[in-house]
Amino acid sequence: MKKTEQLYEGKAKKVFKTDDENYYIVSYKDDATAFNGLKKGTIEGKGAINNQVSNSLMKMLEKNGVPTHLVEELSERETVVKRVEIVPLEVIVRNIAAGSLSKRLGLPEGTKLKSTVLEYCYKSDELGDPMVNDYHIAALGIATPEELKTIADYSFKVNDLLTDYLKDVGIELIDFKIEFGRTPDGTIILADEISPDTCRFWDSKTGEKLDKDRFRRDLGNVEGAYQEVMKRLLGK
Ligand code: TMP
Ligand code: ASP
Repeated sequence: MKKTEQLYEGKAKKVFKTDDENYYIVSYKDDATAFNGLKKGTIEGKGAINNQVSNSLMKMLEKNGVPTHLVEELSERETVVKRVEIVPLEVIVRNIAAGSLSKRLGLPEGTKLKSTVLEYCYKSDELGDPMVNDYHIAALGIATPEELKTIADYSFKVNDLLTDYLKDVGIELIDFKIEFGRTPDGTIILADEISPDTCRFWDSKTGEKLDKDRFRRDLGNVEGAYQEVMKRLLGK
């Protein structure tokens, strides 16, 4: 399959059309941003790591009944994915309080939540990705109630599967953000990426942060943390 025109360039990936209208090629970049693009930097090797980590996690999810956009890894940084229209929602699942939840609700980071939290943010750089609920999503026509039910069910399933899978390699899944897409026939599938950019991964024993918070908070050894996740998941 060959890349044709570039369709879109995001903060961490480029998306290309291909010679087959059913497929896109995504190319992962080393660029990193935080706080809606206010903080900018580069994490060397990130693109290659996120591509391979995301593909390995999506493969596991697909095998366990969650449909994903993954088709074929082309190279270290590039993957063929199914053509979807992204549902403009950041779907966040939380097991342990951290980040914006800790701030908003005054819960110290690391507090175990009594039950899993599901949040939606409307993807809009202009508005700063505001949090929305089921009613806003229906009222704005972002997704139908039926689509949102599918999205919520898959999100909890992804949480259960990822939590168990990561536990085996000594990683505690604190929270994560996923995105869904609609295929041309309207089927909802998991899209975008699952990587240290989009999850909070803490070492199960030491609590060390193995994710993008190292970049967001200037904690140092950002590259080392990404490499450690890759090593634990892919053995390289
Ligand atoms: P938050 O605590 O900052 O709301 O982040 C929750 C989760 O979502 C965390 O795992 C990081 C991820 N995330 C993204 O993937 N993209 C974003 O733009 C933000 C703000 C968070
Ligand atoms: N990627 C997001 C941005 O640049 C934020 C983040 O991941 O913290 O806005």
